[in-house]
Amino acid sequence: MDDAIGTEPFRPQYHFTPRRNWVNDPNGLVYFEGEYHLFYQYNPHGMDWGHMSWGHAVSADLVSWRELPVAIPETDQMIFSGSVVVDRDNVSGLGDGKAPPLLAFFTAFDEPRSIQSQHLAVSHDRGRTFAHYAGNPIIDLDLADFRDPKVFYHAESEAWIMLVALARDHYIQFYRSQNLLDWTLAGSFGPMGSTSGQWECPDLIRLSVDEDPANSLWVLKVDVDVGLVDGGSGAQYFVGRFDGHRFTVDPEIGSPSGGLVDQGPDFYAAVTWSDLPPEQPSPVWIGWQSNHQSGKAYPTYPWRGAMSLPRELYLFLEGEELKLGQRPLKALASLRGAERRGVRGSLAAAASQASFAPEKCFWQDISLGGDADTTGTVSLTDGHETLLTVTIAFGSKEISFERHTSQLAPVDFFERKTTTQLPFCDRVDLQILVDGALVEIFVNAGRRVYSASLFASDGMSTGIECLTGTLRVERDDLALMQRSIDFHAQEGDVSREHRERH
Ligand code: FRU
Repeated sequence: MDDAIGTEPFRPQYHFTPRRNWVNDPNGLVYFEGEYHLFYQYNPHGMDWGHMSWGHAVSADLVSWRELPVAIPETDQMIFSGSVVVDRDNVSGLGDGKAPPLLAFFTAFDEPRSIQSQHLAVSHDRGRTFAHYAGNPIIDLDLADFRDPKVFYHAESEAWIMLVALARDHYIQFYRSQNLLDWTLAGSFGPMGSTSGQWECPDLIRLSVDEDPANSLWVLKVDVDVGLVDGGSGAQYFVGRFDGHRFTVDPEIGSPSGGLVDQGPDFYAAVTWSDLPPEQPSPVWIGWQSNHQSGKAYPTYPWRGAMSLPRELYLFLEGEELKLGQRPLKALASLRGAERRGVRGSLAAAASQASFAPEKCFWQDISLGGDADTTGTVSLTDGHETLLTVTIAFGSKEISFERHTSQLAPVDFFERKTTTQLPFCDRVDLQILVDGALVEIFVNAGRRVYSASLFASDGMSTGIECLTGTLRVERDDLALMQRSIDFHAQEGDVSREHRERH
């Protein structure tokens, strides 16, 4: 094992990255026997997209991660995105009589024939290895763009449900099954909201309104591969109802034009964990913190691609509309180390303040207040260049995020800007999480989120500036973050563990 692994330039320390090679979507997120599993789209042979297989990592707490060997390698077909469920009652009959099997549903991509179909594989060793089901494909429509099965159990209608995207037609299909092997088409959703690119990686998530479990609604999330976030890829969501057959948007509660999950260029293909334990009551998801446009040229080595932090999901009311909120997983606070307090007080127009030296891994909380004539910025710099500018206009209640081109990232389609309204807020709270090249900003407890990659060789620092009026800096605290990824767990761990158990 190479000692330098984990210390390379831009390497995140508390966001999951594989030691080497290309990674994209998270797949098969499931909690089973004390382990949170993170499978992911992975190229075991190189730093570019290709040879898609399911890589694998595990965690006891969603905070610390350990990479394991590839769980589902490519065959004569590539193994595209999908999900895993625990077949507790062995309805599939694929159990070994000792422990419930893990069932992985994924898209097999037959490149020469250009066909995508849904396949199943089963694991009897806690997700370390999977055997392909003899009856594959389990759903085959003879289509080129039919992918990303997400399976869950719907208690009210007593059936397993599978969502699959008809990517170019902008439909999500809903299939039903009793035995997880035979699937019947029940309904579909779409086209709706953005149809500017292919629809990918759907997820359907039950969320309670006002934290009342008796009152719940569903959020359907669909990624769009181009044309959404300032022309790039992104994720949209719809709030509505699901009866086990159909998902419907009710304009009384959620916008039919859909909401944007993340304002930044780098949050894609997020999916929620299945079978979460009782100590983790709200849904949690993780996304690929990159994108298919600029991510392929991000200057990291010897890996490319990363996972976002796990985020807890909730619904909140904004005016008449229910919207999706995302907070950093509570348990991440355990990584906070030494804290430093920045400057607080009022800044007059044209005054700026940089309070901390550059750091590679930190969590900074900044709260700003202002009047109708106040506009301020919070920027991330590497000491030479400004990498990101967040502008808050208190009068028009707008926040914008602008990623600038930078010397260390001569990447096409890098410079991107988005603006979003922040109604009903007189104070803006930013939680800024920086980790190597990864930045996630949660605005007003996650009512808006921005995720991006920024490339600074020796860390970043924030600068606060008042452009017009008077800016009140009410809070400015920075906490250094600790490493939570074990880059040096022995590769042989798994086979040893395997031997011990058998
Ligand atoms: C989304 C995606 C999925 C597909 C996978 C292939 O990033 O295009 O639709 O299953 O990546 O790697």
